[in-house]
Parts: sequence; structure tokens; C-alpha cells
Amino acid sequence: MLQRVDHVGIAVEDLEQALALFRDALGVERVEFDEVPEQGVRVAMLMLPGGGKVELVQPLAPDTPVGRFLARRGPGLHHIAFGVADVRAAMEAVAARGLELVDREPRRGAGGASVAFIHPRSAMGTLIELCQRDAGVASGA
Ligand code: CO
Repeated sequence: MLQRVDHVGIAVEDLEQALALFRDALGVERVEFDEVPEQGVRVAMLMLPGGGKVELVQPLAPDTPVGRFLARRGPGLHHIAFGVADVRAAMEAVAARGLELVDREPRRGAGGASVAFIHPRSAMGTLIELCQRDAGVASGA
């Protein structure tokens, strides 16, 4: 079901400050920005030339899931996203195996992906994102 690591998410207080590290100090040149108001976040996706991605996630307000994460834990690793061919099928499969999903329905993720999260309680303390990149396209390809 899991096809690849799509990206790793890092919760940050401030995108510009985080970009000073990743773009300016570590030399990641390609960055794509997005805002997902439904999730209360601004995102900077670091596009590594070798194909990996790192998602810097800044909350739009303290009273959002990422805002509460920052208040509780401080900045740092937030989730790991695995690419799946069909996010709905993946949700049904993990639910059938007794894992707890955060989402009942897929939601829009950064960059137009269709995503759903598995609760850390079901995943050894790690928030897992199931991420379908070709959202809207019939699965099977
Ligand atoms: Co993500």
C-alpha cells in the first residue's frame, strides 16, 4: 500500500525563519508555497533535486492542530507522509486493520494532494499522512 516516502513534515513557528536554515544555510533552492486554510497552515515545500521533499508547516493560528503541537512540543518533526495510489482505498484498508484515522474523509493537502492522517496512537507515536498526488485522476495507473 505504501509506495514511497512522499515527504517529511516539520512544524515551525515561522516559515521565513525556517527558510533561513533550509534555503539559505542548507542550500535548498526550489521551494513551493501553499496555504491550506482548512488545515490552518501555511506550507513551504522544499523540493530537493534528488526527488525528496520536506514540508515546513507553520500554523495560521495557535488554535489549530499544528499550533497546539507547537505549544505542546515545540518546533520539530511533525509527520511522515507516504505516497499511496488511492487514498480512500488506503483509509479503508488501515481502518479494517484496526488503526485509528484522524480523518473520516480525505482532505486537501499542500500542492493539491488528497491526504488523510493515521493517529499517532495507532502508529508508535508517529503521525502518518497517506498522500495521493494524482487526486482526481482515476486510480489504476
Ligand atoms: Co504533509
